[in-house]
Amino acid sequence: MTELVGSERDLAFFDAARSADVVNARMGSDISPRLGEVMAIVVNHLHAAVKEAGLTSEEWMAAIEFLTRTGQMCSDWRQEFILLSDVLGVSMLVDAINHYRPEGSTENTVLGPFYVPGAPCYDNGANICLDGKGEPLVVRGRVTDIEGNPVPGAIVDVWATNDDGFYDVQQKGIQPDHNLRGVLTTGSGGEYWFRTVKPRFYSIPDDGTVGKLLASLGRHPYRAAHLHFMVKAPGYDTVVTHIFTPDCPFLSEDAVFGVKNSLIAEFRPIDDPIEIETLGFTSPSWKVDWDFVLSRTEDVRRIDN
Ligand code: BEZ
Ligand code: FE
Repeated sequence: MTELVGSERDLAFFDAARSADVVNARMGSDISPRLGEVMAIVVNHLHAAVKEAGLTSEEWMAAIEFLTRTGQMCSDWRQEFILLSDVLGVSMLVDAINHYRPEGSTENTVLGPFYVPGAPCYDNGANICLDGKGEPLVVRGRVTDIEGNPVPGAIVDVWATNDDGFYDVQQKGIQPDHNLRGVLTTGSGGEYWFRTVKPRFYSIPDDGTVGKLLASLGRHPYRAAHLHFMVKAPGYDTVVTHIFTPDCPFLSEDAVFGVKNSLIAEFRPIDDPIEIETLGFTSPSWKVDWDFVLSRTEDVRRIDN
């Protein structure tokens, strides 16, 4: 056995006062520098949190059981850990520090678990509501760069819940497949438009550990009403975002902290019967004009602190 000297000996045995240093000193030298850096920070904060809270053994066991049950909830179609990250605001934070875009660019928000790649491609003007429920809505706008130049050929991928507050993938056999999903391509002037229904607030999946955690923290599981978008074009940073209705009762208390001021749109009622008819709608309808402003990939920065 090698004899320990100086600071090696100091950090060889457990010492509550320097517990994080003891653990971090055990890392090898031939490891990924980034992993070493991140793990040292995690260990420092974890030990500091345990100390600050004066955690009891029962509380630590309860935390371990919570994490165990969270893992047990996960499957190919359910990711309870991402949901946990969402309700703790970490998904939004990680996204924010990785997409610091020039002023005036469209901001990102949370992706959520209900994005499905490969939705049907539609021509501009298509109606993506296949179940006929809800208040008709037309969404129109342009995709531009930060200088206002059109971005033709940009992909505008949209998805939303139906009027009962569920995504098609949550109601297989109840809703038509691909209900309220579609992929559009902008025209030569960067324009896009489609018909859908006005979104409603809905609950995130709350039948698992995350739902129980929210309830025990006196929090509700509702998301402010929104439409999801993923907007892509070569050379530009992909925008993963929503637009929110301004009149939703949960706008200021979204369960996953997804609302940003710049993403609240103006939804206007369409009063003119001729405009309603021209759009192919038969009931009172809504319109929203919304432009997406993309930033070039090289203009996007990470925030370090
Ligand atoms: C969503 O908007 O689809 C969503 C986002 C985060 C968690 C659950 C759902
Ligand atoms: Fe959603």
